[in-house]
Amino acid sequence: MAIEVIPLPLPPSADPSKFADFGREVKGVNPGQLTDEQFKEISDLLYKHSALLFRNVDVSPEEQYKLTKAFDPTSESYGHGNNKTGSEKKSVLHPDLKTIPRVPQVQLIGNGKVYNHEGLAEAQLKHPSHTTFHKTVISPEDDAKGYTRFYRWHIDAALYDLSPPKVTTLYGLKVPSGAPQICRYDDGTGDELPVPLGTTAFVSGKTMFDILPKELKSLAVRTKVKYAPHPYVWMAPAQAMSTGLGIESDGLELPYNELPAWEESKVKIFPMLWKNPVTHELHFQVHPCGVSELLIDPLPEGASKDGALYPDGAHLTNLKEVRELLYKMQRPAIAPPLVYPHDWREKDMVLFHNRGVLHTVVGAFSKDQVRAFHQCNLAASDDPVGPSEEDVKKWA
Ligand SMILES: [Fe+2]
Repeated sequence: MAIEVIPLPLPPSADPSKFADFGREVKGVNPGQLTDEQFKEISDLLYKHSALLFRNVDVSPEEQYKLTKAFDPTSESYGHGNNKTGSEKKSVLHPDLKTIPRVPQVQLIGNGKVYNHEGLAEAQLKHPSHTTFHKTVISPEDDAKGYTRFYRWHIDAALYDLSPPKVTTLYGLKVPSGAPQICRYDDGTGDELPVPLGTTAFVSGKTMFDILPKELKSLAVRTKVKYAPHPYVWMAPAQAMSTGLGIESDGLELPYNELPAWEESKVKIFPMLWKNPVTHELHFQVHPCGVSELLIDPLPEGASKDGALYPDGAHLTNLKEVRELLYKMQRPAIAPPLVYPHDWREKDMVLFHNRGVLHTVVGAFSKDQVRAFHQCNLAASDDPVGPSEEDVKKWA
């Protein structure tokens, strides 16, 4: 049977013109059992469309690991390199992850109690909730009415020492049914997004770049982002904004001298824009919560300084200033018409180009709602590639 490809089912909130290239459902093939030829086709589709959905497929943890690894054959360890040091104990990620004993690169995530699951006698899972991370929270009354928040917009990446995974695979095993919720932005815009219960929401990093005005495109193409050492430990005491798109600047981050041991050489500095290896398009890929500094190159020779920001380059180290600038660049792309909230069904396998999208957990479950997903991503064998010289000339 030939591989068939159809557009993803978009919700009424989405602007179809912004999703012409984004997302495809793939039919006629099990992603856990691809031939080499089929894998090549799927890999090209993924880089072209950023997210692929396979419905009603049976995929074992071994098959999921094999599929994920096929995108980066020399990658080995889980994207966050867990179980390596005790430093993760303090990290904001620690409670969300349980490892499948047979295939430690595959994580069990979700909500509620799961029994006899792939060698785990019992696992207590907890769906991350904005209530433990945002500075302000939805009131219990509004929560009861079905209002919720984006948890944390992110790229799956350790952002220290290890390179960001190329692909993440997410497999829904148990998906609780329940009423849809309304995701509120609470940032003064009045923006709201109706979402299926427990959705994973995606936005395109390419769209994030494409919709920027000229002067911010010029800035993006010239800027590198420096992340804090052990960023998830660093940010753990801090509180996020109501949109889940970054941290409030209240000075709550852990001081660098209280972090687990770290080395400057392992601190990550990435271009703000990452080049898609297949389409060669630029994707705005920044994990706003972990950022500490921005390094801006001057305009290239011959570029017009008219209206340009930081025409002579700059090194921004003031956290508040760094975050405000980033927020101005990223916030337009999480507007309701630009978000794809996936409506999970059991046995859905979603592959996403982790270097081409931002995503977030959304919503809240009650304790007795059991959700079980398998997630796999692998720290990559190389760092993302930034804009070429021609890109800089074109956009600066
Ligand atoms: Fe994630």
